Amino acid sequence: DYRTPLTVVILGASGDLAKKKTYPALFSLYLRSLLPENTIIYGYARSHIELDDFKKRIGSYLKGSEEKKKAFLDLCHYHSGLYDDKSAYDEFDKLIRKEEAKIQSPTSKYNRLFYMAIPPSIFIEVSKGIHGSLIENNGWSRVIVEKPFGRDLESSRVLVSELGRLFKEKDLFRIDHYLGKEMVQNLMVLRFSNAVFEPLWSKSHISNITITFKEDIGTEGRGGYFDQFGIIRDVMQNHLLQVLSLVAMEPPLSLNADDITNEKVRLLRCIQPIKLDEVVLGQYIGTQDGKQEGYLDDKGVPNDSKTPTYAAAVFHVNNPRWRGTPFILKCGKALDERKTEIRIQFKRPDNFLFQDEDISRNELVMRIQPGEAVYLKLLTKKPGLDNSIEQTELDLSYRNRFENLDLPDAYERLILDSIKGDHNLFVRDDELDVAWQIFTPLLKQIESLGCIPEKYVFGSRGPKSADELSKKFGYVRSTGY
Ligand code: BG6
Repeated sequence: DYRTPLTVVILGASGDLAKKKTYPALFSLYLRSLLPENTIIYGYARSHIELDDFKKRIGSYLKGSEEKKKAFLDLCHYHSGLYDDKSAYDEFDKLIRKEEAKIQSPTSKYNRLFYMAIPPSIFIEVSKGIHGSLIENNGWSRVIVEKPFGRDLESSRVLVSELGRLFKEKDLFRIDHYLGKEMVQNLMVLRFSNAVFEPLWSKSHISNITITFKEDIGTEGRGGYFDQFGIIRDVMQNHLLQVLSLVAMEPPLSLNADDITNEKVRLLRCIQPIKLDEVVLGQYIGTQDGKQEGYLDDKGVPNDSKTPTYAAAVFHVNNPRWRGTPFILKCGKALDERKTEIRIQFKRPDNFLFQDEDISRNELVMRIQPGEAVYLKLLTKKPGLDNSIEQTELDLSYRNRFENLDLPDAYERLILDSIKGDHNLFVRDDELDVAWQIFTPLLKQIESLGCIPEKYVFGSRGPKSADELSKKFGYVRSTGY
């Protein structure tokens, strides 16, 4: 299939996502010679931008030699047109066909990949626009869509069925870019291929599991968008839930995409309704010195917004493997650091020898970012004459362990998979549905009760109650590490 020319169409090409993620990912694939030999990249958006200006704009986000950048930018075209005008899409299609006709296809086919880097409000409009001449070509036509896939169960179902009328499920690729991250990829390998982990992976040995997402930046001008969704919809309902399902699912029948998704869906169905008193909501305020603005100061955010920028919630998985082991999910913006990690905290061994010591728990930490790492906290005798116990760790930091580490960005992997037609790392419709079933009652409850989020200062650890929640559900903070 790599001999078949490919046209990548980026809808919303003048936006943030396209310039920060989509084009840089395509450029990396280009550098690795992973794009089909004859690839054309066509940007489409409303803004009138001269091609040279457009190239400068995306060029500033590409990392590589000037020569390679230039060669890549030579593949890029730009066309401005309306999103709600059918004839604009027909005109666009003619332009693409003209470009494609300049290339002799060895397979006589031409493939097209549509990347929707557009706001959710115009999802359906644009989908209707490309449906028709643009996707009807003699090769394959695939469509990549970005979250948010709706705001709740109802709107997500509408979106799924509208898109389902226009495109076949096999041609749709719903991105959750967390699935493309290296450490998330590594989860199945770590869990299922290691004799030292696999037998311990259950409530019998694991006391609690925490999945944390922390960002040290606020909404930074994205407040208008963010305020309609909030952190639960922005991060927890998708990225963190995906991580949870990979951590907790039963072994799939095979590595085939459907088998894996079947297990994830089965797991998600076992999650009990989330209780409001097991949830902490927060919203950040500015720092006292005025250097960092609060959420409410972000333009586009209403002064009285109750939208949470931080959330922690406890999930109970009601199945034989996990009944009794809480999963604590935490995510927030404007915190003290940028870090995403999974912490598996083990139970204290039933060992009478050290009963009296207040010792830390064994903990397996998988750091998704920054600085991918897996480390296992364990206890050792303090070296030397001293007989006390100390916590240390077996540490697999990728940067130290693997030479010439060149990890692909999540988007790079996912775009490559969509070109290959591999659905493994994309979200299936029933998976999306069950994710919304889990969160919709909670979101409705929060909104109807008008829950006021707890304030926390920009750059802090987040709301105090979140630490208390973790403690209440068994998380023991280590004493040594
Ligand atoms: C996006 C959210 O899906 O993920 C953003 O909409 C968030 O709010 C981003 O900043 C985080 O992605 P990453 O890859 O930087 O962790």
